[in-house]
Amino acid sequence: MKLYILNGPNLNMLGIREPDHYGTTTYEDLCEMIREHCEDLVVECVLRQTNHEGELVDYIQEAYFEDADGIVINPGAYTHTSIAILDAAKATRLPLVEVHISKVEEREAYRQVSYIREAAIATITGKGTAGYLEAIDLLCVKKR
Ligand code: DQA
Repeated sequence: MKLYILNGPNLNMLGIREPDHYGTTTYEDLCEMIREHCEDLVVECVLRQTNHEGELVDYIQEAYFEDADGIVINPGAYTHTSIAILDAAKATRLPLVEVHISKVEEREAYRQVSYIREAAIATITGKGTAGYLEAIDLLCVKKR
């Protein structure tokens, strides 16, 4: 089992950016948590972060061409704007879980649209970085 864990813009700033919304766990801490969790589950994980929309499209396509079994994605602000990322996700037809660290549904009006949701089998919001682990678990259960 191989999962791609993709993070969009500003998620490399975790631990620094708006801790009231995103907590104090750094991106490196998050990667370590995910690696350990995947090791316990005997799941291979590929971690990618980018601040660029097209690069996120490339990583979604990479998941397909590298025969991933699923994608966990937090597209950051591109969640609310990017049809290109939605199209890439749909093209792969891979099971995908959308994750947001903050409770987006209780935030600004401009965060209430999610393009990627149309391609997601589930959405996890407001659970902090633990949401990524829950998303991984969900994809593992789906595979069984
Ligand atoms: C986010 C929520 C988005 O609205 C925001 O632009 C982010 C992070 C989250 O994880 O809560 O960059 O996706």
